[in-house]
Amino acid sequence: MERTGDQILIIFGASGDLAKRKLLPSLYELYADKLLPEKFAILGVGRTKYDDASFRSYTEESLQEFADKFNGGKEFIRMLHYLSMDPAEESGYKGLAAKLEKIREASGIPARYIFYLATPPSLYGTIPRFLHEHGLATQEEGTWKRIIIEKPFGLDLESARELNRELLEYLDEDQVYRIDHYLGKETVQNILVTRFSNGIFEPLWNRNYIDHVEITSAESLGVGSRGGYYDRSGALRDMLQNHLMQLVALVAMEPPSEISSDTIRNEMLKVFQSLRPLEKEKLEQSLIRGQYSASHVRGELLPAYRSEKGVPEDSRTETFVALKLYIDNWRWGGVPFYIRTGKRLPTKVTEIVIHFKSSPHTLFCSEGVGYNSTNQLVIRIQPNEGILLKFGMKVQGAGYNVQTVNMDFHYKDLSDDELPDAYERLLLDCMQGDSTLYSRGDAVEEAWRFVAPILERWEEDPDFPLYGYPCGTWGPEQANEMIEGEGKTWRYPCKNLVDNGLYCEL
Ligand code: BG6
Repeated sequence: MERTGDQILIIFGASGDLAKRKLLPSLYELYADKLLPEKFAILGVGRTKYDDASFRSYTEESLQEFADKFNGGKEFIRMLHYLSMDPAEESGYKGLAAKLEKIREASGIPARYIFYLATPPSLYGTIPRFLHEHGLATQEEGTWKRIIIEKPFGLDLESARELNRELLEYLDEDQVYRIDHYLGKETVQNILVTRFSNGIFEPLWNRNYIDHVEITSAESLGVGSRGGYYDRSGALRDMLQNHLMQLVALVAMEPPSEISSDTIRNEMLKVFQSLRPLEKEKLEQSLIRGQYSASHVRGELLPAYRSEKGVPEDSRTETFVALKLYIDNWRWGGVPFYIRTGKRLPTKVTEIVIHFKSSPHTLFCSEGVGYNSTNQLVIRIQPNEGILLKFGMKVQGAGYNVQTVNMDFHYKDLSDDELPDAYERLLLDCMQGDSTLYSRGDAVEEAWRFVAPILERWEEDPDFPLYGYPCGTWGPEQANEMIEGEGKTWRYPCKNLVDNGLYCEL
């Protein structure tokens, strides 16, 4: 891969959890793979009182814990700098400009900056404004300035619009990189390659051959130490509006005319624009929300969501959500998409299942009854990344008995290298000025527009059902009933293991 041009990455919120667990380790991995620019500096910014030396020791400790390839990396550690300032106060930005000037003088790096906002969302408009006012966002000949904004991008349609409006007051759209780390996952990008580099799938990829599509993103962990944030967010805002909707878009989009940031993002936007609007009054029929309750899982008593740190005892925030949606266009007319996500489910797994229609006439049997199983294509996003095709095969011997077998591809068979973390890919793309895997402002707004009726209904009707489900189960029974009522069932990933009380290691 080409080496990127010399530049400086400024991380606001450098002493926070995201920087520690994801950003700094990903940068280190890029360094270890020789993918960082020849001249590169990282400036950590935050309220924590570090200086260059103490930030370097802090980072070294974090890398020991979170970066697989860490082996001392003195050269990388020397790239690190720190400025203690409150990003919410305008007074600190003069110092920021001076610090950047100093780093540039010492290193010879031109004024090419990426500002990474790993801060509370309340600062997503403020920081760009102050950067702009201090000339730090101005792009002169031979330089550029980019800003990466973490999720959540807004809390609803109004706030997302307002944030877009504010950002575009100081910046051009092509300077703004809205992160959705699911787009940085290799397996998520592979959805496009599977669909559009093979002649065999695409002819079947439509309402004529597909019965329904199922997307599950399950987590076995609870909210951990993030109760305060999560309680204001819930599964709908935290996972569905962004990560799950990106998966829907990639599964459903039309082929782009070429691989470029605009062509791909235009097609994704069109999917969002074709989503059938949800009817607020009839939401019970297509949406189930749940919240986990205390339960023993593999011998351990796991607490209820309401007993988690930072969560009010009477919280009605959802930790699970299942939704049926339709895409009203030529390709998908009448095909239901069932999507679900939740915390404290039996295992951690994200997968997309394309359920094909059954054959038109039943000829064979399986264990005495007509075999008319539908073929499934399972795209395993994580873990055990791969693709599985399920189809019927003759059982040896007399007669025509059929059983379902698997054709199974595992990414790990392709190479001994671990798949890169999504943040590695996304950081590198931004350094190279490629925004394909970042969300565009209009698409973010469309995704918010789609979920708006849900948020409105929940707000207007606090008694909208919130079902409990014990930790370690696949969410409320009602989510199963929703899909079973239509003669279908969720695929339960790792079912055998989970039924036997084992964690799904795959
Ligand atoms: C984050 C959510 O965006 O995605 C978390 O805020 C969630 O609540 C996480 O745990 C899941 O990401 P991944 O990559 O582990 O599936």
